[in-house]
Amino acid sequence: MKILGIDTSCDETAVAVVSDGRDVLSNVIASQIKAHQAYGGVVPELASRKHIEAINYIVDKALTEANVTFRDVAAVAVTNRPGLIGALLVGVAAAKSLAYAHNLPLLGINHIEGHIYANYMVHDALTFPHICLTVSGGHTLLVEVHEGWRYKVLGSTQDDAAGEVYDKVAKYLGLGFPGGKIIDELAQKGNPSAIDFPRPMRNSGDYQFSFSGIKTSVRYFVEKAQRAGTLQLPPIVGDYKPDMIRLEDIAASFQAAVVDVLVYKTLRAAKETGAKTITLTGGVAANSELRASLKAAAAELGANVYYPPISLCTDNGAMIAGIAYVKYQQGLRDGLALNAAANGAIVDV
Ligand code: KG4
Ligand code: ZN
Repeated sequence: MKILGIDTSCDETAVAVVSDGRDVLSNVIASQIKAHQAYGGVVPELASRKHIEAINYIVDKALTEANVTFRDVAAVAVTNRPGLIGALLVGVAAAKSLAYAHNLPLLGINHIEGHIYANYMVHDALTFPHICLTVSGGHTLLVEVHEGWRYKVLGSTQDDAAGEVYDKVAKYLGLGFPGGKIIDELAQKGNPSAIDFPRPMRNSGDYQFSFSGIKTSVRYFVEKAQRAGTLQLPPIVGDYKPDMIRLEDIAASFQAAVVDVLVYKTLRAAKETGAKTITLTGGVAANSELRASLKAAAAELGANVYYPPISLCTDNGAMIAGIAYVKYQQGLRDGLALNAAANGAIVDV
């Protein structure tokens, strides 16, 4: 059964065709990064306009690359929550039109459920229940995932998402957008113990996260160092006088703080629930230090860590078509009254 999956929740116009929930026939993405770069972050109105420009072309491309037509497609799935409301509406309007025109069932999908499902598309050995850490530009969520894709949300961020702080810290440091990959690469050349940034809520005894405190600490640190003349921005990377603070060390120390909290709480969840499988998903799951630290910590517990390839980590239509297959089997059908919603927590079942 082939499903066309559409995701326009943020700054990627993403469309895919997936067969039986796992076999990715196409996974096409039109990235808007260049359009938002000048602003150092995603501009919601601009995102909506760019989706409108791209959506029809990307749908056609996804069908062509999958070598199918609408006659081969059994359902249309679309992310309708959570996300930027204007951006979501473009995908929802497109999906409704296509479902109506081709007389196909329409399924509205929660974007986070797509991220959680992504690992299942590539890892046959995934067992239930498992602990899933979703870390992206918009979300930080720790979930216990049960058979039949039923969830128990253990915790989430109280303020900024992990990816969001990477992007904001990169902005303070004048490194460009999106900041995650840039900081990740810079951090590999730095000393993670050079600066002791705080680990908010690490010992809160629950599974909640808070990252805005780390972001503010980096900002104060940068401003103070600039005033003292010990930090040069824009940087002369790699060519420092002995008393100058190295940008690589700021990146590595910031990353160490974020990764420490994420790994600590995820491991605690695995320990307390007895889950022997941990999955990592969302854009920040691409982070090299997070992957390595989580793997090392999980090994001590005798647990396995899975993460999807980058193409399924960051926003994509394949994960939406994938989880839609499950939802279709479970009986989900939405009518043309389907609406988009900026918020949309996943529901414990
Ligand atoms: O999942 P995604 O594509 O979009 C959202 O749903 O938000 O995630 C994008 C986020 C951005 O904040 C980006 O900076 C971050 O993922 N990111 C990374 C890395 N690659 C992307 N963060 C840390 N390390 C990386 N290597
Ligand atoms: Zn996402």
